[in-house]
Amino acid sequence: MTSNGGMQVSAGILIVGLGGNNGVTLLAGQIANRDNLSWETAASGRVSANWYGCLTQIPPRGVHGGVGFRGRVPGLADAGRAVVGGWDIRPTPLGRALYDCRVLEPDLVRQVREEMDKMEIMEGVWDPSFIGESQYETATHVVSAEDNLSTRTRVERIRRDIRSWRGKNNVDGHITIIWSASVERPSEAEYNSPDDLLSAIYDDTNHDDISPSMLYCCAAALEGCSFVNGGSQNTLSSAMTFLFDESYRMPDVPSSSILSKFAPYSSSRAYCLGTDYKAGQTKFKTAAVEYLRALGLSPRVIASSNHLGNNDMLNLTTKKTLDAKMRVKSDIFGPWQENDLDHKVCVMYCPYIGDEKRDFVEYTSLGFLSSPHTMVTYTRCMDSILCVPLMIDAAIWCNCFVNHNVSAGDAARATAYLFKVPEGEAKGVDPGFFNQMKELEDVLKNIVSKRKDTYDVLALGVSRGIITEEQAAALQGLQLNN
Ligand SMILES: NC(=O)c1ccc[n+]([C@@H]2O[C@H](COP(=O)([O-])OP(=O)(O)OC[C@H]3O[C@@H](n4cnc5c(N)ncnc54)[C@H](O)[C@@H]3O)[C@@H](O)[C@H]2O)c1
Repeated sequence: MTSNGGMQVSAGILIVGLGGNNGVTLLAGQIANRDNLSWETAASGRVSANWYGCLTQIPPRGVHGGVGFRGRVPGLADAGRAVVGGWDIRPTPLGRALYDCRVLEPDLVRQVREEMDKMEIMEGVWDPSFIGESQYETATHVVSAEDNLSTRTRVERIRRDIRSWRGKNNVDGHITIIWSASVERPSEAEYNSPDDLLSAIYDDTNHDDISPSMLYCCAAALEGCSFVNGGSQNTLSSAMTFLFDESYRMPDVPSSSILSKFAPYSSSRAYCLGTDYKAGQTKFKTAAVEYLRALGLSPRVIASSNHLGNNDMLNLTTKKTLDAKMRVKSDIFGPWQENDLDHKVCVMYCPYIGDEKRDFVEYTSLGFLSSPHTMVTYTRCMDSILCVPLMIDAAIWCNCFVNHNVSAGDAARATAYLFKVPEGEAKGVDPGFFNQMKELEDVLKNIVSKRKDTYDVLALGVSRGIITEEQAAALQGLQLNN
């Protein structure tokens, strides 16, 4: 992405759970694209790096434009130039973790492993009560001692990590923090306002049930970074959403306010988005039911199951975390008010299958004269191959929307298609995948038309000799940054 008269500005992506299947697949994909790597595959011979699945990175195809926004939206960052880092509670070197998870072809893993093994993994803020016991044995890379004394010291530590990472890596663009760590059980802490939330975090004697994801999310807001909740836990709340509102994080608040205790904090625009990536089965379900409804049929039974054997699924074998996942998997058709719909979901942990998820869904609807209409879908794909493009797009959209001064409400509506349950400012958006894509198109149309007006005025200024081409470029950069 260019601004400031042509200087490159890099977007930042910080991943909580960097050493997990999604984190390492994202890193490997980014290196592969950056270096134009190619590798041997059993199924298709030699293949080269691409961004398939990343709508922000692929150019439009077909006579009507179609999907793919590269070149259609001004200022969309190149994900290959983004700076990626993050935290994990496991110390496993990232190249080794990539090898172990068996998501990508060995010939590609071989080419990126050494570079990935050298990358820093920041220690994670961890509370064992929130995730499955299956994760305890490997949780040795955790924030400890003074930094782990209270919620206040943990948030301070995350904030320090963000600042020092930004400085070390010269990240001069917007940073998006993505929760890609294990699903947590729901937190029982509820707050009416950001003041209440920050007061609870600041109070060293507080024993509220505040999850690590809430601490990362608060730290993101205070540092002016966007936060994306890719897991299914209840990190987002109205108090949290308001913490991301710039009107709350105004500079120079009175010293009596709780926010001033967290100074210096950032007043920059940042978004809080979620919840739980809509990556595979759920995404197709919301498109299929949209199709059935568009036919005028009445969907009656959706019986769906999936099975896979990755570490995320292993963490979900504990009831406390499974409940969080089932909430977001079941609660996807709410606003359609299909009251007669019997929607069943079953997930099974099958270690042999690894990351290559299989999902089956049978849809039974009533057609003309109540005659049944039944269809079945079967999908098979590596789970991280489905999810990583959404992580990349979420961060690139956040960067783009901040640069174009898009409101929090519009940013949340535009990115609702990425999440199983659109929460925060996206609450109430239609659940249908194609309706959600239309929300994105609407927000982008606004950006493009505003930008076009500016380009027209600047071009006129140059043609009349009022400003030079350099001044026009600098003014464009200014607008992109404000
Ligand atoms: N892959 C998909 O298709 C998909 C779809 C939707 C949502 N998700 C969600 O994305 C997340 C990541 O999935 P994955 O397959 O990479 O899981 P994973 O289990 O492979 O990785 C999770 C990582 O998070 C780390 N971790 C746990 N608690 C942490 C903490 N407090 N701080 C820092 N690190 C912590 C773990 O050590 C692990 O390395 C999960 O929440 C999953 O439910 C995945």
